[in-house]
Amino acid sequence: GGGAGVFALSAPDAWQIRGLPDPVPGGRFLLGTKKGAGAMAIRKTNILDLARMKAEGAKIVMITAYDALFARIFDDVGVDVILVGDSLGQVVLGHSDTLNVTMEDMVRHTAAAARGRKRAFLVADMPFLSYQTGPSDAIRNAGRLLQAGAEAVKLEGGRNAAGTIRAVASADIPVMGHIGLTPQSVHRMGGYRVQGKTDPQRERLLDDAAAVQEAGAFAVVLEGMPAVLAGEITRTLSIPTIGIGAGVGCDGQVLVMHDLLGLFDEFRPKFVKRFGELRKPVEDAVGAYAAAVRDGSFPGKEHSF
Ligand code: KIV
Repeated sequence: GGGAGVFALSAPDAWQIRGLPDPVPGGRFLLGTKKGAGAMAIRKTNILDLARMKAEGAKIVMITAYDALFARIFDDVGVDVILVGDSLGQVVLGHSDTLNVTMEDMVRHTAAAARGRKRAFLVADMPFLSYQTGPSDAIRNAGRLLQAGAEAVKLEGGRNAAGTIRAVASADIPVMGHIGLTPQSVHRMGGYRVQGKTDPQRERLLDDAAAVQEAGAFAVVLEGMPAVLAGEITRTLSIPTIGIGAGVGCDGQVLVMHDLLGLFDEFRPKFVKRFGELRKPVEDAVGAYAAAVRDGSFPGKEHSF
């Protein structure tokens, strides 16, 4: 598929493709056991890198991850941003929407992803009711996600969320906005529907985008809206836009890992491209294991002590 080339790159190549300077030995984020010879310096991606990528026209690659294993794999591939999304509720925890995801869920999975990644910028979603109840709740909960290892939080909403974004950002907690099809508003929208299709909706989304930027967000996710509108918002804003179901005109793209890997089958939105078909090999491997246990061919002598 179109993205397969990117995913086949080794980490150093991916690093160059992103147009970022090579990791600096002795830099501030020195990972490894000892300084000097043999120590490996890892330069973490930060919000300035993301702003520069927009200025230079380099696309921002964002993917969700919910645990250390996948965060490590995606980091090794060289993605720019890992999002611990509240899609956790659907793809990991078995809920039918994101409304039952709790702060405890997000803190646990953010901490796990943080332990797995080295370079990628880590964003954690603020779950339903962790920020809608007022600025002090929002700051406290956003702070907990930073303490768990995130470098920024993402919260849903446009003009209605501007005061909250301003409060969290003024506590020096970087905020990524999220407008358009906002899954925590599923009942207000009457389902998961593309937003901004009518003229009044389009005007409202342009206002939402401006309000989110003005409130101090460093980036914004544009979800489920016409590509032309997302392109217009991207050209209007000075902060990077990350699209999902919003066309190719955004500064970057995000997909849920289970969708792009072909692991999640419950529904297939139009905007999802499956860059892999991992469900089938998983079924085949587990099926072969079950058959081998049942017919006594596993464990063999070579697996026994
Ligand atoms: O929860 C999530 O994974 C998200 C992305 C799809 C943008 O918010």
